[in-house]
Amino acid sequence: MKQNLLYKKPALKGAIRVPGDKSISHRSIMFGAIAEGKTVVKGFLKGDDCLSTIDCFKKMGVRIEETNDQIIVHGVGFDGLKEPVELLDVGNSGTTTRLLLGILAGRPFHSVIIGDESIATRPMKRVTGPLREMGAAIDGREDGQFTPISIRGGNLSPLNYELPVASAQLKSAILFAGLQADGVTEITEPEKTRDHTERMIRQFGGTVTRSENKISLHGGQALKAQHIEVPGDISSAAFFLVAGAVTPGSEIKLQHVGVNPTRDGIIEVLEQMGADLHINEAALDAEPVADITIKNSKLKSIEIGGEIIPKLIDEIPVIALLATQAQGTTVIRDAEELKVKETNRIDAVVGELKKLGADIEATDDGMIIHGPVRLNGGKVSSRGDHRIGMMLSVAALLTNEEVEIEGIEAVSVSYPDFLADLESLMSKE
Ligand code: S3P
Repeated sequence: MKQNLLYKKPALKGAIRVPGDKSISHRSIMFGAIAEGKTVVKGFLKGDDCLSTIDCFKKMGVRIEETNDQIIVHGVGFDGLKEPVELLDVGNSGTTTRLLLGILAGRPFHSVIIGDESIATRPMKRVTGPLREMGAAIDGREDGQFTPISIRGGNLSPLNYELPVASAQLKSAILFAGLQADGVTEITEPEKTRDHTERMIRQFGGTVTRSENKISLHGGQALKAQHIEVPGDISSAAFFLVAGAVTPGSEIKLQHVGVNPTRDGIIEVLEQMGADLHINEAALDAEPVADITIKNSKLKSIEIGGEIIPKLIDEIPVIALLATQAQGTTVIRDAEELKVKETNRIDAVVGELKKLGADIEATDDGMIIHGPVRLNGGKVSSRGDHRIGMMLSVAALLTNEEVEIEGIEAVSVSYPDFLADLESLMSKE
């Protein structure tokens, strides 16, 4: 599906509440299912990825009720999950694939995970390798590297494991397996990654400890159902933060955004670039939330690399766009993980932004962007990647000519109403 965008030099004004956090929404279903009792989830993201997670758990016999404003998961405990008759289709969702593998690793039954074309290219050995070490029988294309993957779980031994990549998905898969293992599992991360899984274990009454970069947990803990309030997704808010920062005359308030310190790299980057940002933090039980106001301002280039990368990995496409409007040369490094996201995001960002006239080049582990540059219109593609589609829609705010985006429907993975929300800020002018 194509989308033609030609905005009339809008100033973006008003307030918006972005949909629920994708990472937390996935986990709310998973923890709801493996806990005992009725978990109620408010603010759940009804994007394609999280709906895939719901679908997989329904296929394992978990009753999940979906109403307009909440999801109710009737938890069955690990032992209540049933061998699925059907294939577990994860669609486009890497989080579903990897975290589900961790849960299935300890289940004494057979299941098969399939997904879309993009999922079939994403590396899974990083997860299937350690889960095999713990005792799960796993097979899959190229020896368990790619989907389709079949798994027969069993009795698991605990693992002491140093993550070869800073991946919260890998960490979470091992934590889910560790919850089912006989003993203490210890994981060391090279850099701190998002900690929603650890927070949710505690919220559900379990114990997980952290010392420096080492995370430990005991197997065999019973988890109890909870009420969960999912905050707005900072990764979705990022598109509006950048739109507000670069569009003349704009002032946008983003309400109830999750600002977990393992996810707030975009705020740090905007502040360092000189954005006019105001954060009004309010505590919420398991995850911190804030209202964030952003105004258009002059921006300067910065260098982004090292331990901040996992805190903004999903925001790099829109940060690259931001950098095209900043004075000077922005360098993004240590971000080779971008190559194995929904698409190769180094190629996609550089290739598509070049079509709009950006001065941007790819490097082995990131990109270099020279700014400020006046972007032009053109024909671009989301390449089937939701975050590339949204980034290009924001880029269209900056051009005098039409931007035609092929494959815009990909935005439904994490933000089905994205374009409507963006337009709602324009009509206030
Ligand atoms: C996620 C972790 C990140 C992120 C993804 C969601 C999660 O992936 O890019 O969108 O929910 O744990 P990695 O942990 O593989 O880096």
